[in-house]
Amino acid sequence: MAPLAKLVMACLILSSTLVPISEAGSIVTYWGQYTNKTEGTLEEACESGLYSYINVAFLNQFGYSQDLVLNLSGHYSNGNYTLLGEEIKACQKMGFKVLLSLGGPYGNYSLASSWDAETVSGQLWSLYLDANSTSSALGGGAAFDGIDFHIERGSPLYYYDLAKKLKEHGAGERNKTIYLSAAPRCLYPDEYLAKAINESVFDFVWVLFYGGSVACEYNAVTGLDNLIISWNAWSLLLKKPAKLFLGVTASQSISGYIPPGVLKGEVIPQINETSRFEGVMVWNRYYDLLTDYSSSIVNDVNLIKLKKPLRNVNLIKLKKP
Ligand SMILES: *[C@@H]1O[C@H](CO)[C@@H](O)[C@H](O)[C@H]1NC(C)=O
Ligand SMILES: *[C@@H]1O[C@H](CO)[C@@H](O)[C@H](O)[C@H]1NC(C)=O
Ligand SMILES: *[C@@H]1O[C@H](CO)[C@@H](O)[C@H](O)[C@H]1NC(C)=O
Ligand SMILES: *[C@@H]1O[C@H](CO)[C@@H](O)[C@H](O)[C@H]1NC(C)=O
Ligand SMILES: *[C@@H]1O[C@H](CO)[C@@H](O)[C@H](O)[C@H]1NC(C)=O
Ligand SMILES: *[C@@H]1O[C@H](CO)[C@@H](O)[C@H](O)[C@H]1NC(C)=O
Ligand SMILES: *[C@@H]1O[C@H](CO)[C@@H](O)[C@H](O)[C@H]1NC(C)=O
Ligand SMILES: *[C@@H]1O[C@H](CO)[C@@H](O)[C@H](O)[C@H]1NC(C)=O
Repeated sequence: MAPLAKLVMACLILSSTLVPISEAGSIVTYWGQYTNKTEGTLEEACESGLYSYINVAFLNQFGYSQDLVLNLSGHYSNGNYTLLGEEIKACQKMGFKVLLSLGGPYGNYSLASSWDAETVSGQLWSLYLDANSTSSALGGGAAFDGIDFHIERGSPLYYYDLAKKLKEHGAGERNKTIYLSAAPRCLYPDEYLAKAINESVFDFVWVLFYGGSVACEYNAVTGLDNLIISWNAWSLLLKKPAKLFLGVTASQSISGYIPPGVLKGEVIPQINETSRFEGVMVWNRYYDLLTDYSSSIVNDVNLIKLKKPLRNVNLIKLKKP
C-alpha cells in the first residue's frame, strides 16, 4: 500500500468513532447538454422523482468582462430562457433544487482577477439568482437555487473569490441562501478548485470518479482499490459541513463506469461504512435515460439512513399524471 493510502487508512480508523454515519442519501444529475428529444425537458427530469438536485449545464462563457453565455442550445432557441424559468419553478414546487453549472468541456471561461470574479458574481446574481431582478434572464420571478462549479479548463485562479462573493450577494441583498457545489476530479486536491474547496465555501462536493482519472477510478480488471483509497482521502480531508457525493457515469463508454450491481453490492456498502457518503451524482440525464442507471440504484441510495429525506415523495405523487 502506498504511504499516503496508509496514512489515510490509519486516520480513518482513528476518526471513525467520532464521525456519525451519514444521514441522507440522494441522487444528483446534470441536464442540458442534449435535446428535448434525446434527454427530455428539465421538468420531465424533475417529474421522474429520481433527483434531489439537478445541475443545468453549462454556462460556458464568463470572465474577462465577457457577457455570460448559457449553452442549452438543444433546448431553447436563441437564448430566450423564459420557458427554462417556468420549468425551474415547476421543479422547485416539487421540492427539488436546480443549480446552474459553470464550466464544462467547451466555451471560453476564466477569471482575470479578484475584481473580475466580483463582476461575474454580480452578473450571475442579477441574471440567474435574484428572482426579483429586472434584468433576469429567466423572468417570471424564477431563479436558480445556486451555482455549480464544474471547471475543467482555463486558469484555476479566483474561483474562491467568485464563490465567496456569490454567498455574500445572497445573504446581503435578499437574505437568500445560494447553494454552491463543486465537481472536482477524483485525485485530491483538484487542479482548479483546490483553494475554494479548502476554504469550505461549497455546500456539496460531487467528486468525479470517471472520465480519465485512472489513478482513482474503478476498473473492471484492477477493481475498486483506487476508488476506495481516493474516496477515503476525500472523506477525511473535505472539511465539514460540505456534503460529499460519489460522482459516477451512467455511460458504459466512459472510463470509470461502475455497473449498478457493483455500485450497490460493493461500493456503497464500503463507502457507507466510512461515513461522509451523502449520495450519488449520476452523469448525466441523457445517459441515465438510456441505461436506467439511477432507477436501478435509487432504492439503495435512499436506504442510507434517511433521517431527513431530501426527496419529497408525497409531492411527486401529487403531480399531475
Ligand atoms: C423543448 O421543450 C421546451 C419546454 O417544453 C419547449 O419550450 C421548447 O420549445 C422545446 N425546444 C425544442 C427545440 O423543441
Ligand atoms: C421569450 O419566450 C416567451 C415564451 O415563448 C415569449 O413570451 C417572450 O416574448 C420571448 N421573449 C423574447 C425577448 O423574445
Ligand atoms: C454547446 O454545447 C454543446 C453540447 O455540449 C457543444 O457541442 C457545443 O460545442 C457548445 N457550443 C459552444 C459555443 O460552447
Ligand atoms: C476568449 O475570450 C478572450 C477574452 O474576451 C479572448 O481574448 C479570446 O480570444 C477568446 N478565445 C476564444 C477561443 O474564443
Ligand atoms: C420578490 O418578488 C416576489 C414575487 O415574485 C414578492 O413576493 C417579493 O416580495 C419580492 N421581494 C422583494 C424584496 O422585492
Ligand atoms: C433570513 O432568513 C432566515 C431564514 O432563511 C431567517 O431566519 C432570518 O431571520 C432572515 N433574516 C432577515 C434579516 O430577514
Ligand atoms: C487550507 O486551509 C487551512 C486553514 O483551514 C490553511 O491553513 C491551509 O494553508 C490551506 N491549504 C491550502 C492548500 O490552501
Ligand atoms: C448504510 O449504513 C447504515 C448505517 O450503518 C445502514 O443502516 C444501511 O443499511 C447502510 N446502507 C447500505 C445501502 O449499505
